[in-house]
Amino acid sequence: MLKTHHCGELRLEHVGQHVSVAGWVHRRRDQGGLIFIDLRDRSGIVQVRIDEQNQPDAHAAASSLRGEYVVQVAGTVVARPEGTANPELPTGEIEVVPESVVVLNASKVPPFLINREDVVDEEAKMRYRYLYLRRPNVQKNIILRHQVVKFIRDYLDERGFVEIETPILFKTTPEGARDFLVPSRLNPGTFYALPQSPQQLKQLLMVAGYERYFQIARCFRDEDLRGNRQPEFTQLDLEMSFVQRGDVMALIEGLMTTMVGKFVPEKQLLTQPFQRLTYTEVMEKYGSDKPDLRYDLAAVDVTDIAGKSGFPIFVQNAGEGKPIKAIRVPKMGAISGMQLRKETANLEELVRTVGAKGLAWMAIPEKEDEEVKGPIGKYFTVDQKLQLFARVGIQPGDLVLFTSDQRDTVYMVVDTLRRHLAEKLQLADPNVLAFAWVIDFPLFFWSEEEQRWDPSQHMFTMPVPEDVPYLDSDPGKARGSQYDLICNGQEVAGGSIRIHERAVQEKIFPLIGQTMERAKEQFGHMLEAFEYGTPPHGGIASGIDRLIMVLSGETNIREVMAFPKTQNGADLMAGAPSPAEARQLEDLFIQLVDPSRKS
Ligand code: AMO
Repeated sequence: MLKTHHCGELRLEHVGQHVSVAGWVHRRRDQGGLIFIDLRDRSGIVQVRIDEQNQPDAHAAASSLRGEYVVQVAGTVVARPEGTANPELPTGEIEVVPESVVVLNASKVPPFLINREDVVDEEAKMRYRYLYLRRPNVQKNIILRHQVVKFIRDYLDERGFVEIETPILFKTTPEGARDFLVPSRLNPGTFYALPQSPQQLKQLLMVAGYERYFQIARCFRDEDLRGNRQPEFTQLDLEMSFVQRGDVMALIEGLMTTMVGKFVPEKQLLTQPFQRLTYTEVMEKYGSDKPDLRYDLAAVDVTDIAGKSGFPIFVQNAGEGKPIKAIRVPKMGAISGMQLRKETANLEELVRTVGAKGLAWMAIPEKEDEEVKGPIGKYFTVDQKLQLFARVGIQPGDLVLFTSDQRDTVYMVVDTLRRHLAEKLQLADPNVLAFAWVIDFPLFFWSEEEQRWDPSQHMFTMPVPEDVPYLDSDPGKARGSQYDLICNGQEVAGGSIRIHERAVQEKIFPLIGQTMERAKEQFGHMLEAFEYGTPPHGGIASGIDRLIMVLSGETNIREVMAFPKTQNGADLMAGAPSPAEARQLEDLFIQLVDPSRKS
């Protein structure tokens, strides 16, 4: 090794030792006769002090150093002189006095600073990914990721799980996104699909009798990207035989709780055990199936009260069966009149972007003898106001926002308002992890566009046992045995108990608009397997990238992945995707059409 020690590990106990360290020049301070170098490797930073008089050769070598040069320093560890220790640095009590400073490699001036955490232009971050990954705060995330994956492997190994790899070149495994296709040279005109998840394969492993499977699995989904979505991402994927939903949930809850205690002990779990909320409950209260539970801002149904007020829109909507919901925003009603009008106008503009036609509000005065402010107060009798305030739990100085529309629009408005207000009022405590289970999802959602049922999770999810008869009579009423784990506004895991009988599986296909013929073409292997003694089974998958986001407090998934893609699905560093050579296309029997002809 070119080093005897890592930069970050040197301490007072090493004083007097002769050491060799190597790394990158993090910072150089030239004070004429004295040069200080902060030398950085993955473990941290150590200060090197070079005195021109005592170490003339090393001083000459150090004079030519620039940021990010790669350097080897051999020398002696000494205690820093009285009063010069740096308590911010783990190595802050010592420094290295070199006998030699050897430049192992020079560096061009990087396009952004490595030694600072300031914001970097996204394009530079992606194009010079290896330099961005060199930043200590990014390295911390990537190393945390490694540690978490190792922890997961050990945790599951101890509980009898077997890690099994499944193919990347496979057949469509629908999870609601588009497939990435790979043409087959050996079978002209045919394509593999990259797995959107190993869903079918893990179920087949249950048929094969493995009982407890897991995999750190790469998944591929061609979908629009967001801050928490990548086209290629990693799941902790697992499946268990002879279980009920509570068994899978308990396993994952134990894993998450232990993981938090081990890696971020300073963070608090909101509740323990995790809350279990039904889909209907979270949608009605928070307008989202993955609400951030670190703050309240819950919507309260006031249709019965507001529908009897004199406000024509509410009266009409209530008559048409549309809900009226109120959200209490603490303290915001107490701001001055001008400011209040401006703030509420901004909120109204915001909710219009998600389809609302307006936003009604009332500001509750701080003093009892003042009037309620806002455009709709006059339409409510004193008695109605009192009923309303009791229902919503009003305190003096609150702002109450009202939304009424089709139920789906109301959900969108509530979700949008909650996210916006929480950010504006800084209501989400970064030190709290609000894990919760969401259960009892509908098995299907009706697609007006396609005029068919769409599975709310995927087509292998079992209805909760008592709802199986609804598959024949009223599919919209069937609840799925699905469970999602949410944390701080993210869905971090999702799973279900599966259908393990061919007859039940066959009922699903026509409902989701698949002919039996097409279903057999695509999933014949599953149906066939179900006839050979399939055990009852269920499982779950958790997005590793999202878990690391939650643990590290990052808000963009790219910060926890080594080589992510841009918003357009591109790798700017290597230049992928890129055109194929004519020869390659010929081998694959592919002819290109001019992309501009795509309608
Ligand atoms: P699901 O589609 O809910 O379930 O995915 C499981 C978890 O994977 C993560 N995730 C993603 N992370 C980053 N980028 C993406 N594009 C992305 N899509 C999903 C989320 C999500 O909760 N086969 C089922 C699991 C099962 O039923 O066992 C599945 O894949 O954290």
